[in-house]
Amino acid sequence: MSIEEAYNDWSSIYDQNQNKTRDLDKAVTEDILSKYQFETVLEMGCGTGKNTDWLVSQANQVFSFDFSAGMLVIAKDKVQSENVQFQKADLTKEWDAQNEFTDLVTFNLVLEHVEDLGFVFSLTSF
Ligand SMILES: C[S@@+](CC[C@H](N)C(=O)[O-])C[C@H]1O[C@@H](n2cnc3c(N)ncnc32)[C@H](O)[C@@H]1O
Repeated sequence: MSIEEAYNDWSSIYDQNQNKTRDLDKAVTEDILSKYQFETVLEMGCGTGKNTDWLVSQANQVFSFDFSAGMLVIAKDKVQSENVQFQKADLTKEWDAQNEFTDLVTFNLVLEHVEDLGFVFSLTSF
């Protein structure tokens, strides 16, 4: 089973499972970033939108990408702000980012799935 298929399977219970890593990630993200406001955020591997809702409160525009259609269905249902655009995209391939510049790129609990980090960071050059 591919990673994409595994997350499609997991999507319906991802938010309900006991998952201390997921919960710690949310707490630490909010703790570190709460003192900042952003014009735009690119959220790579947004999953079920666990962090998207909160990122919207800190930014004018959030662009959230994931390759799992199942995870995106949950995220879109959960986060209905007009300041968020969800898009299906594979981070290991060229993707269609709408903005050339962004204030913040997040990869919460995602990069452990990516073998060639050099390619991902070449697309999000700093
Ligand atoms: C553990 S979940 C984390 C989701 C969310 N960021 C969070 O913190 O809850 C990992 C997510 O990364 C996505 N993902 C993994 N590899 C990806 C890739 N190559 N392209 C796009 N999304 C990917 C999965 O579909 C999944 O939604």
